[in-house]
Amino acid sequence: MGFISDSLNRIQPSATIAISNKAMQLKAEGRDVIGLAAGEPDFDTPRNIKDAAIRAIEAGKTKYTPVDGIAELKTAICSKFKRENGLDYKPSQVTVGSGGKQVLFNALMATVNPGDEVIVPAPYWVSYPDIVMLAGGKPVFVDGLPENGFKLQAQDLARAITPRTKWLILNSPSNPSGAAYTRAELKALTDVLLQQPHVWVLSDDMYEHLVYDNFEFTTPAQVEPKLYERTLTMNGVSKSYCMTGWRIGYGAGPEQLIKAMAKLQSQSTSNPSSIAQWAAVEALNGPQDFIAANNKVFKQRRDLVVAMLNQAHGLSCPTPEGAFYVYPSCEGCIGKTAPSGNPIRNDEDFVTELLAAEGVAAVHGAAFGMSPFFRISYATATEVLEDACRRIQRFCGNLR
Ligand SMILES: Cc1ncc(COP(=O)(O)O)c(C=O)c1O
Repeated sequence: MGFISDSLNRIQPSATIAISNKAMQLKAEGRDVIGLAAGEPDFDTPRNIKDAAIRAIEAGKTKYTPVDGIAELKTAICSKFKRENGLDYKPSQVTVGSGGKQVLFNALMATVNPGDEVIVPAPYWVSYPDIVMLAGGKPVFVDGLPENGFKLQAQDLARAITPRTKWLILNSPSNPSGAAYTRAELKALTDVLLQQPHVWVLSDDMYEHLVYDNFEFTTPAQVEPKLYERTLTMNGVSKSYCMTGWRIGYGAGPEQLIKAMAKLQSQSTSNPSSIAQWAAVEALNGPQDFIAANNKVFKQRRDLVVAMLNQAHGLSCPTPEGAFYVYPSCEGCIGKTAPSGNPIRNDEDFVTELLAAEGVAAVHGAAFGMSPFFRISYATATEVLEDACRRIQRFCGNLR
């Protein structure tokens, strides 16, 4: 019997974190590397949010708090859901964790029994399948095909549901594809779920604010109020508020689920950082206008990256509705040979050789469950992105 537990042996370390670390390591060794693998805005946390944290420190708000969040933050979260999503939640229906990842982790660990199935539309955020497997569950992958904008189709969802299905995880706008579901597209999915009362919905709305071209964001509990009683609506301040390092995420749903999640958190991390919680109160209650200003820049970068990648030999890059990722196909490069002499057999070879030849770090599509694609995060300075896209064009042009 090995020392490491069977449950841990079922899962893999996060591929995106591994590639970001590799890029950082190469940089530290003096290599000229552009990291496009990490999923975080390059913008600084807004001043008013930092000031709220400093005030919290000065006021001695540095002690343990209630396990799943201070009352002031829960109230701010309820106001946010009402104001932005038309959803009524009481503070007792709200949970706060150390990042959206912990909220998701708590929800799955608190509810999934061995053999339970969780539907994960592909391409998916890398952590979903591993958390499901850690909990002893079985991720059931359903492809959102490129011709459908990488979105799950109602008939495919209906086919994937079995009596063992516990959750459907929906993530719009999506990491890694940037795809966002319109109200009508979500309604088609929620109509399927209305026929399946045993299936719960975990809506990961982390990229809610990062949508472009006047796209209207909606979330399942809003589109189909009849699903409210079996939906966990998850969100956080990491992406929209440029607060990835502060580690605050939250979720809202039925009290029974929220209580179970708090029980788990009480025996693991306890409360998220008290200081970060006060910063999040300011993020949610304070001025929101910087989000639109940031989005203007993100949209310009998205359009730049899409245009430049579509000029590269063998690449084809759709324009996503949101988030700060593009998910181009590298199908036209498969079967070619890299400058190193190594063959490009798949998307993992493509990103490995791209890093070796041109020092651009991207993440292979296989890590997100759909090949042959790769993910680029465009949350990086515009001139750096331009440089990176030129290098990718050169790399593709040099393949033989
Ligand atoms: C889709 C998605 N959900 C959740 C998270 C987790 O966010 P946090 O950093 O708040 O844990 C991420 C972060 O990359 C994400 O991309």
